[in-house]
Amino acid sequence: MRTAKRIEKLPPYLFAEIDRKVAEARARGADIISFGVGDPDLPSPPHVIEAMQKAAADPATHRYPSYTGMPEFRESIANWYDRRFGVKLDANEEVQPLVGSKEGIFHLPVAFIDPGDVALIPDPGYPVYETGTILAGGEAVLIPLTSANGFRPDLGAIPQDVLERARVLWLNYPSNPTAATVDKDFFMEAVQFAARNDLLLAHDAAYTEITFDGYVAPSVLEAEGAMEHAVEFHSLSKTYNMTGWRIGWVAGAPQAIEAIKRLKTNIDSGIFDAVQRAGIAALDGPQEYLEECVDRYRHRRDLLCDGLKSMGVDVEPPKGSIYVWVPVPEGHTSESYTTFLLDKADIVVAPGNGYGPSGQGFIRFSLTIADDRLEEGVERLRGLTR
Ligand SMILES: Cc1ncc(COP(=O)(O)O)c(C=O)c1O
Repeated sequence: MRTAKRIEKLPPYLFAEIDRKVAEARARGADIISFGVGDPDLPSPPHVIEAMQKAAADPATHRYPSYTGMPEFRESIANWYDRRFGVKLDANEEVQPLVGSKEGIFHLPVAFIDPGDVALIPDPGYPVYETGTILAGGEAVLIPLTSANGFRPDLGAIPQDVLERARVLWLNYPSNPTAATVDKDFFMEAVQFAARNDLLLAHDAAYTEITFDGYVAPSVLEAEGAMEHAVEFHSLSKTYNMTGWRIGWVAGAPQAIEAIKRLKTNIDSGIFDAVQRAGIAALDGPQEYLEECVDRYRHRRDLLCDGLKSMGVDVEPPKGSIYVWVPVPEGHTSESYTTFLLDKADIVVAPGNGYGPSGQGFIRFSLTIADDRLEEGVERLRGLTR
């Protein structure tokens, strides 16, 4: 058997060695505290589960779903955009449900990148922007994000010859893994940049609903011209603790949505209608549960950041996302410090360079861990500094 060359082109899985060590430690009975994966520990809202249970019992949901999603779900998404961002969307032409946003993020390059074309990708960033580009035969050009520029791309520094081959610019705020946030002016400039250079601006908005201290994350679709040059990916995964349900969407420029629809009719056969009805319940229903979860993440962020600061770590409490991005002590790399924490304190974190070379020198803590375990983790870290 011979695998295709494109599989060999995929970057190696940096977490494999850590996963192996964690399995080893667990096997010898270690009490591992994992700040590794960004998967909400809290359950989905009860009214969402009820809507799903009811819908699953309805035989109408047992047949093939529509390729373009239930019209009621698309309407619900359009109404949510209007309420949340003041953005008016045509639910038929400008919204496409996805089997989780990862599915659409991975497929977008198939619709927009020909072999040899460039996608501009934030470094560090969610790995699927790069792998989707590579598997579409494109070239992933990494745009370094550094603390000096607030983990925002310096768009003016992208060389002209790269821009000429570029078709897609990826952005993600609040960011995984850096937890950086932006304001609407940033998106206005990014949309103008995309327009000037004939790019599709693809914004991944997975964490816009998890923000703190009065900060409200904008949508790229609020920016003037966005409906000609941008799309935005969204997800119910993190907002409503629904990672297991696999439901999200892409919204924005109708020409781009049309291309994605055309592609998807050839790939999947839609999302289980019962899951879409649950999605409607999540978007249209009471939002108190979300507020409680955000409050919980804020509390955990403070526990972790206050703890780290009291140990002399230079960490800025983030205004959004479920992550804290922390520089490693001098003399360590991301990997060596990740290994050190696992070996000496049975603590798992994600090494920053797993998200791109510019993540070197950082580790990422996820806040999706029960408060008492988080407190215990902070105490173990404190023990290392004594
Ligand atoms: C930045 C970002 N985008 C997209 C996703 C994918 O989310 P989903 O496919 O569950 O909607 C994730 C998941 O961790 C993420 O961190």
